Amino acid sequence: MSEAPLTVDVHLTPADLRDALKDDVATGLRHRPRSIPPLWFYDERGSRLFEEITRLPEYYPTRAERRLLAEAAGRIAAIARADTLVELGAGACDKTRLLLQAMHAQAPLRRYVPLDVSEEFLRAAAAGLVAEFGALEVHAVIGDFQRHLDRIPFGGRRLIAFLGGTIGNLVPAQRARFLFDLNCTMAGTDHLLLGADLLKDPERILRAYDDAAGITAAFNRNVLHVINRELGASFDVERFEHIARWDDQQHWIEMRLRSTVDQTVIIEDLGMEIRFAEGEEILTEISAKFTFEQLQSELEAAGFVVDETWGAAEGEFLLTLAHPYC
Ligand SMILES: C[S@@+](CC[C@H](N)C(=O)[O-])C[C@H]1O[C@@H](n2cnc3c(N)ncnc32)[C@H](O)[C@@H]1O
Repeated sequence: MSEAPLTVDVHLTPADLRDALKDDVATGLRHRPRSIPPLWFYDERGSRLFEEITRLPEYYPTRAERRLLAEAAGRIAAIARADTLVELGAGACDKTRLLLQAMHAQAPLRRYVPLDVSEEFLRAAAAGLVAEFGALEVHAVIGDFQRHLDRIPFGGRRLIAFLGGTIGNLVPAQRARFLFDLNCTMAGTDHLLLGADLLKDPERILRAYDDAAGITAAFNRNVLHVINRELGASFDVERFEHIARWDDQQHWIEMRLRSTVDQTVIIEDLGMEIRFAEGEEILTEISAKFTFEQLQSELEAAGFVVDETWGAAEGEFLLTLAHPYC
C-alpha cells in the first residue's frame, strides 16, 4: 500500500518567529518581574530536552497521562467517533499513538493534524507517523495555538487533543481566552480531550521541575541560547541558575532563571542593554496544577459540556473529554 502524503502548513516562518520573539523579549525583559513566554524553550534542542524530561524518574505527569490514555483510549474513541485527530502542542506525537490506534479500531481514521511551534521537530515526528500508519493522512500545522486556531483544517468529526498539561502554562485569563476561542472554532460534533496535571503534594511537584540530573535546568536555560542565536544577545548562560518555586496562592510552579552575579547583557537586534543585579530573576514558565472542580468549571465557563473524565480517583493527572455546548 502506498503511503498517504505528509502535508505541512507553515503559519509561522522562521522570520515570523523571530519577529514574535523580538516582541516578547523586548516587552518581557523591560517589565518587572522580567519574563519570557515558555514557547521560546522549544527550538529543536529544547524539544529534545523536553522529551528527555518526560523520561526522568521525577517527572510523573507523562507516565500518569500515558497510563490514563492506555486505559481510556477505546472509550474516548467510542464517544468521539472522530475520523480526524487534531493535536495542539503535539511535540513528539508520542502518546498520540494510543489514540490513533484506538480511533482506527473504532471507525475509518482519515487524518491526523498535529500543530506545534517547533518546525523541525514536528516535521520529523509527523514523518515518523506517516511511515508507521500507512494510509493515515498527516497534515502538520506549524503555528501558535494562541494565535492560529482558525488555521486548523476543518471538516469531518474531529477529536482535538491538548495533552501534556500544557494548558497549565497559561495564566487564568489566557486559559479562559484560549478555551473560549477553541470552543468557537469547534463544530457540535467535535470533541476536546484535555490532559491536565492535578494539585498534589507540592514537594512531589517541585521535584518534577528540578530533577537531580539537571535536565530541566538545561531546558530552562535553553531559552537564553535561543535569544543569543536569534537576536544576537550576549547572555552568559552559565551565569543564570535554574529555580523552581511553588506558589501556594496560585497553585502553580514557577520556573525562573536567576542571575548569579551583577552583569550586563546586550541584545544587539533590539538595541537593548540590560543590567541584571545578582539574584535578579526572569520568569520563564508557570505550570498550574488543577483541582477536578476547577477544571470542570473552567471548561463549562468556556462553553463545553464534560462527557467523561479519567484519573480523578488516583489524583495524579486528569483526562477530560468534552464537547461544545450548542
Ligand atoms: C509541555 S510540551 C507537551 C508536548 C506533548 N504534547 C506531550 O504531551 O508530551 C508543550 C508542547 O507545546 C508546544 N508549544 C508550546 N507553546 C506553544 C504555542 N504557543 N503554540 C504551539 N505550540 C506550542 C511545544 O513546542 C511543545 O511541543
